[in-house]
Amino acid sequence: MSSTTLSHRRARREDLPTLTSLMEAAIAELLKPYLNEAQIAASRTLMGLDTQLVEDGTYFIVEQAGALAGCGGWSRRATMYGGDRSPGRDAALLDPAKDAARVRAMYTHPAFVRRGVGRLILSLCEDAARAEGFRRAELVATMAGEPLYRDCGYHPIERFLDERGGTAVPLLRMSKTL
Ligand SMILES: CC(C)(COP(=O)(O)OP(=O)(O)OC[C@H]1O[C@@H](n2cnc3c(N)ncnc32)[C@H](O)[C@@H]1OP(=O)(O)O)[C@@H](O)C(=O)NCCC(=O)NCCS
Repeated sequence: MSSTTLSHRRARREDLPTLTSLMEAAIAELLKPYLNEAQIAASRTLMGLDTQLVEDGTYFIVEQAGALAGCGGWSRRATMYGGDRSPGRDAALLDPAKDAARVRAMYTHPAFVRRGVGRLILSLCEDAARAEGFRRAELVATMAGEPLYRDCGYHPIERFLDERGGTAVPLLRMSKTL
């Protein structure tokens, strides 16, 4: 199927239950080639839905023929990654003149991978952040996300392990000039 059949819109509060199911499916299936079972379980603590993004109007949904194909967003707030239940969140507003916008919570449904959903959402995020004056974007990539971000022009800054989910999960901080 061609990526031209994809449509997009901003996520709304009533989408939250469907978004949660999609994220659970993506985490369960798409991290398997990169992480062991314990690391996937730990990832559920480190990742997931951030309702702040939906409230801020910076979270996008991509649909194909009425089905939810993927979601992802960006933020003008300091939190680098994680969901509502992740530790270490910081809702402070960033300064577009000196800070990098955050790219956040990118998930494609396992039935819709490799159709350009992630690439489309990233371009929506970058356009929106640029329109608010941001000149740089940063993100923290999972091992499943790294190929997408490299393909879209993000450069690695630093590899690190996040142990807050009980097992060390490898992550990569990346950046791009907008
Ligand atoms: C990361 C993720 C969102 C990618 O979604 P996607 O919609 O399949 O990505 P796209 O179809 O837009 O891929 C664009 C390009 O990225 C690269 N890419 C994406 N997935 C890849 C994979 N599994 N292996 C190799 N390259 C990949 C390719 O270059 C691809 O272009 P191509 O298909 O023309 O070769 C999806 O795999 C996912 O939900 N993973 C689990 C959750 C997660 O880890 N999210 C990232 C949080 S940082």
